[in-house]
Amino acid sequence: MKPRVPKAFLLGSMITMFAGTLLAQPEFDFMPEGGRQTLLRLASTHTFDLKAAIARKATEAEWTAEITAEAPVLPQEEVETLASYLAVNMPVTGDAAREATTMEELAQALPPDGKELAIANCQFCHGFFTGYLAHDRDAEGWRSVFKSPFHRELPMTPSERETFARYSAINMPIPYEKVPEELRF
Ligand code: HEC
Repeated sequence: MKPRVPKAFLLGSMITMFAGTLLAQPEFDFMPEGGRQTLLRLASTHTFDLKAAIARKATEAEWTAEITAEAPVLPQEEVETLASYLAVNMPVTGDAAREATTMEELAQALPPDGKELAIANCQFCHGFFTGYLAHDRDAEGWRSVFKSPFHRELPMTPSERETFARYSAINMPIPYEKVPEELRF
């Protein structure tokens, strides 16, 4: 028999544990949260049914309405970031998501969000600030990054590129003074 632990407590501590290990990278706290992180935060603090949500396909407008109803105080840019993440990436249909029984397993089954993709892909060949954080582009402008010969081969799937483009259009640029000194190049 499984030990009885209050569900809310279990979810909360798992999120914290998970956020502490894989997702949260404190040195990048200056960047606005991406969709995966916001989703996990909502699932731990609201009644948002994460497993049901990620099995569904909906438009960006439908997700926006749902998120706003669920979390009316969420700032507009976080709503937009999360709605775009969900519109591009849901449903998550793999075995990992279907068989997940804990919040941690579910969280790991979710595709990376725009912030995670930028951190993982955009700071090794040139400065993170000059190549990414300082740019003011719309989604089409960010998509065009992947057309140049030196970016075409980046190991990012089409939906990762789209997730990245929409996150970046909403959340970039970041003012110079908000960027930690070691990343200002
Ligand atoms: C494999 C190496 C490499 C990676 C990884 C890389 N870039 Fe670049 N990037 C280049 C090179 C080479 C140039 C052209 C020379 C320069 O400006 O340094 C460039 C130039 C740029 C420019 C200016 C020219 C343009 O296309 O508008 C931007 C913006 C840019 N990169 C954004 C990004 C973003 C966003 C990512 C992550 C999705 C990224 N880069 C990842 C190699 C890379």
